[in-house]
Amino acid sequence: MDDEDVLREVSRTLLEIQYDCEIKEASSGNKAVKILSDDAPFDLILCDYKMPDGSGDTVYNFTKKLQKPPAFILVSAWSHTESSGMENLLSDSEQNAYVSKPYSAEQLYEQIDTVMASLNGMKVESGPDFCRINAHKFLQSEFDAVCVYLKLSERKYVKIADNTEAEKKEIIQKYIDKNIKHVYLKKNDYDLYLKNLFDKVKEKIDSEKLDTGEIKTEEIFPLQITTIEAIHDVVYNIGIDEKIVKLTDQYISSTMNAVKSQKKLYALLETIFLDGNYIYVHAQLTSYIICALCRESYWVDKTHERDLVYAALFQNAFLDDNKLAMVYDNSSADWQELNGQQKTLVRTHMVKIVSMLEPLRSFSLDAQNAILNHHERPDAKGFPRGLTDKQISPYDGLFIMAGHFAHELIVQGTSPERIIKLKDYFKTYYNVGNYQNAVEAFNKVFK
Ligand SMILES: [Fe+2]
Repeated sequence: MDDEDVLREVSRTLLEIQYDCEIKEASSGNKAVKILSDDAPFDLILCDYKMPDGSGDTVYNFTKKLQKPPAFILVSAWSHTESSGMENLLSDSEQNAYVSKPYSAEQLYEQIDTVMASLNGMKVESGPDFCRINAHKFLQSEFDAVCVYLKLSERKYVKIADNTEAEKKEIIQKYIDKNIKHVYLKKNDYDLYLKNLFDKVKEKIDSEKLDTGEIKTEEIFPLQITTIEAIHDVVYNIGIDEKIVKLTDQYISSTMNAVKSQKKLYALLETIFLDGNYIYVHAQLTSYIICALCRESYWVDKTHERDLVYAALFQNAFLDDNKLAMVYDNSSADWQELNGQQKTLVRTHMVKIVSMLEPLRSFSLDAQNAILNHHERPDAKGFPRGLTDKQISPYDGLFIMAGHFAHELIVQGTSPERIIKLKDYFKTYYNVGNYQNAVEAFNKVFK
């Protein structure tokens, strides 16, 4: 109800777009009271305050006397505390709310969703500690000992299933059918979920392959995140937004097109993309991170940004062995275990891939150098050249940080606590010499 025809029209349109509901309109408080007393019970009222012929409090006071008072959302330029007779609106019932005029569609939907959730006995919770999971993947995982939430707004979540809910699968499926793509778990439950996933993969590998000596323990870790949906979940959880994901995906598909005519390169890229292993996950994850870092670096133009995403995809493409691609430190035990031929491959994979990229004439020199130097480190302990923080370029710095960060996320896991620790470590470890430009961007992306 609103005395302004235009505003009623806007509200009606917004409601019809989002909800399957029957709507009645009134242009004054007294007309609204008449409708409320004549017609069937209403679930929800959206009501302006200042109206001629009966203001918002007339309607509110009337609804309070009804046998089943509807949820009441005051939509007004003045808050409930500034509106006579409405002071107790929020304390009267959890199913009441206030939306300030002028409002955005999101603000209106958020309040309606919150009120309706409460009306249906669902509990709304708020906080930053919710982690996103692809709803399909969650169903497939058959892990159901956790509470499952939907996101209402930036910080508000509603519980759709308890940890003991017997029909959890059916409930989630119902939301998937309504086009809901993600569900949310609290961070402790998210850790349990990942652990369960990991145990399952490990069990599977133990029974199928470990006894044949084909797969070693270190190769099991990246299998936590092998699908593009799971990679996206990690990307969102570390704080990269959807715009960057979309932009990176565009770069990735343009890379595929650009190399289509290069049979050898295309075959290489296809192998990376078909194979849900470390090289694939690392390439994808690095591409999102480098794109986000470039966007926060005023000195990187769009051509360089695109080329660095290309570089992210190709950096380890010459290595067809995940174990070799995972060697990030040439003083580690993993390195010591390699034979001479394998060590040579690790030391030279960056040179080999750059020479294979030569037919791509548009591929910039800076991006080629970024690949060549992707294992260098700020303490000059990287390989193959052991360059110091003064000897690398700012582009190298961005690329090195992105690839290294992606690697640690895969190996160390992506629980919220782990992500915070890793971010802090990177902000300090890289804060020297020519890496400082990259750290500046890193600080902006990963606050
Ligand atoms: Fe590498």
